Amino acid sequence: MMNTKEPIIEFRDVTFYYPISETPALQNINLKIYEGEYVAILGLNGAGKTTLQLCLNGVIPNMIMGELTGDVFIKGLNTRDYPTRELAKIVGMVFDNPEFQLTQTSVAEEVALGLENLGTSPHDMEEIIGEVLQTVGLSGLKDRSPFELSGGQQQRLAIASALAMHPEIFVMDEPTSNVDPVGKEEIIAVAAKLNQEKHMTVILAEHEVEVVAQYADHVIVIDKGKIILDGTPQQVFNQIDVLAKCGLRTPQVTEFFNQINQSKKLGIKELPIKIDEAESLMLNQFEKK
Ligand SMILES: Nc1ncnc2c1ncn2[C@@H]1O[C@H](COP(=O)(O)OP(=O)(O)OP(=O)(O)O)[C@@H](O)[C@H]1O
Ligand SMILES: [Mg+2]
Repeated sequence: MMNTKEPIIEFRDVTFYYPISETPALQNINLKIYEGEYVAILGLNGAGKTTLQLCLNGVIPNMIMGELTGDVFIKGLNTRDYPTRELAKIVGMVFDNPEFQLTQTSVAEEVALGLENLGTSPHDMEEIIGEVLQTVGLSGLKDRSPFELSGGQQQRLAIASALAMHPEIFVMDEPTSNVDPVGKEEIIAVAAKLNQEKHMTVILAEHEVEVVAQYADHVIVIDKGKIILDGTPQQVFNQIDVLAKCGLRTPQVTEFFNQINQSKKLGIKELPIKIDEAESLMLNQFEKK
């Protein structure tokens, strides 16, 4: 990840304690994220993924008090100096429990809410609502009550509401509750589309390593509030032992090649992390024989 540009997100030696907590939820975090990256944050329950994400829109330290040392910069702005509502114009955030974010009586009104706060004209509003609902695949459900949607649809509605504000950085906590595997795949695919087509910087907290290997171009592994690995998916998922120490596994295809690499002494230096990479490596091996 060679880069001469300024990072769009930078953590400088950030440590954070929640109020009255004796152990830090984040410890000495140093991190640079560049515009257009699709970043996955991997870590077990309680590792600090959500806490790290809450630093991005200034909820930490501006709304959750606790004790923060070090600095977080978003497009060069120190989050200590800007209210969350200012940072919200740059950073869109969707939490893992969208049902608590939904308040309106129809899907369209739900998306309109944030736009009203921005003072968008009714004409522009209609256009933006149509566009973002199209993006997340909810065009046909404009008049439906948000509470009648499936978990996956609610998550996509929350995404649409965040997108309506045209954030440059899109942060998503892993869609876990109430989302079936297909719904989850759709959500991850929407994030990938935003990243590829709109060049949006995406920060996704995610458990499933296969999903991360498929979509992300930058992976951060966090354990007990510390960054343990930070690199490309290729680099990170080749660190099988380090991941295991954090209670994480590598994609199954990587695990498989690791085993036959050792047992058959194939001498593969970079283990594949995706199915298509594995396929070409396998065909190569056959041709050699
Ligand atoms: N509001 C809070 N007050 C006190 N401690 C908290 C609070 N929220 C989180 N913590 C603690 O901070 C640590 C990091 O939690 P965090 O929610 O960031 O982890 P996570 O990686 O998002 O976990 P999960 O996968 O379960 O969502 C944990 O030890 C957690 O117990
Ligand atoms: Mg979390």
